[in-house]
Amino acid sequence: MGFTMGLNLLLLLAMVATNILSLYHLSTTMISTKPPTTPTPPVPDHLLRQLQTIRATITHLTRHHSNPSIPTTPSTIPSELLLYTQLSPIASSCRHHPDLLHQYMNYTPFSPCPPPSSAAAEPLILRGCHPLPRRRCFSPTPNKQPTSLPTNPFSPVPEYSILWNNYKCKNFNCLNPDLGFDLKKEKSKLLTYKTDLDLPISQLTDIAKKSKIVVRLALDIGGGTGTFAAQMKEQNVTVITTTMSLGAPYNEVAALRGLVPLHVPLQQRLPVFDGVLDLVRCGHAVNRWIPVQAMEFLVYDVDRVLRGGGFFWVDRFFSKGVDLDKVYAPLIGKLGYKKVKWAVGKKTDSSGVKNDEVYLTALLQKPVSR
Ligand SMILES: *[C@@H]1O[C@H](CO)[C@@H](O)[C@H](O)[C@H]1NC(C)=O
Repeated sequence: MGFTMGLNLLLLLAMVATNILSLYHLSTTMISTKPPTTPTPPVPDHLLRQLQTIRATITHLTRHHSNPSIPTTPSTIPSELLLYTQLSPIASSCRHHPDLLHQYMNYTPFSPCPPPSSAAAEPLILRGCHPLPRRRCFSPTPNKQPTSLPTNPFSPVPEYSILWNNYKCKNFNCLNPDLGFDLKKEKSKLLTYKTDLDLPISQLTDIAKKSKIVVRLALDIGGGTGTFAAQMKEQNVTVITTTMSLGAPYNEVAALRGLVPLHVPLQQRLPVFDGVLDLVRCGHAVNRWIPVQAMEFLVYDVDRVLRGGGFFWVDRFFSKGVDLDKVYAPLIGKLGYKKVKWAVGKKTDSSGVKNDEVYLTALLQKPVSR
């Protein structure tokens, strides 16, 4: 008992110490450093030093001085960690945006958070500053609370249950109807087959049944207002949706529809344990604008959370045609999944035509054993 309490105390100390270190680092580099501008800069010295310091502090505080398994020279830092730290610097990327971080953390403790409270978190999270620091202030809630909510996720949700001061738009009518807020329109989504790029849910269910795979639990990456989760609810499948509230109340509306929204950016490790999901879907929030290496980490994380025999559904991923053949198809191929469906079609909107873009819809099945 005494030992675990002591260990907890030490871990707490380590946490506090590293946070103080980060703060110190923040204050000393704020003036001098600029975010790197080239796409693949060499590993900056300060990053190596920071990693070293954090590790040294934790080692010191947990008294593992002589543990030979914890290397201490910079050259022995795993290259994957260094690479990843540049893609999405672990916690330290907040350092590149001191202005936003200061604005976010500038509040009076134990009193209401200053407006625009929730919206202030988005720009930081989207810049890789995640997880965000916790705050000790009261986030505002709408003044009027609904006394009942629809059980059907396609019924209208009360407009007054959203804090519109987080957004430019002040009501649903103002939002672009293609964004997923017109729930009548959403009702017909994902159900019909118009082109080869479509995979209607009935077809997905049939495929799963034929391969004797039970689909009960799924994750929708970048799922907007949660329409995939809503359609799957009709099939008694539970889907959690990762979604941001960038410029519109996606999280709020998913929640009002009775669907679980996870406020998680694309670059975050999926908050799910290994091998627990039957299906992961990526909507077209996952596309060529994500750096290739970040995409690679994303698809391997999808593999991690899928169970053997589980499905990975790439729904209208878009890229330039030539990149699909040269970059993305080989990237997905590395997973060694069975191609249940693989359909490519021209992206015919104006930017698609201009950039010679294509869509890929693929249903891939993870091998049961490797
Ligand atoms: C979902 O569950 C309900 C209640 O158990 C059942 O009546 C319904 O048939 C199920 N729907 C599907 C598609 O399995």
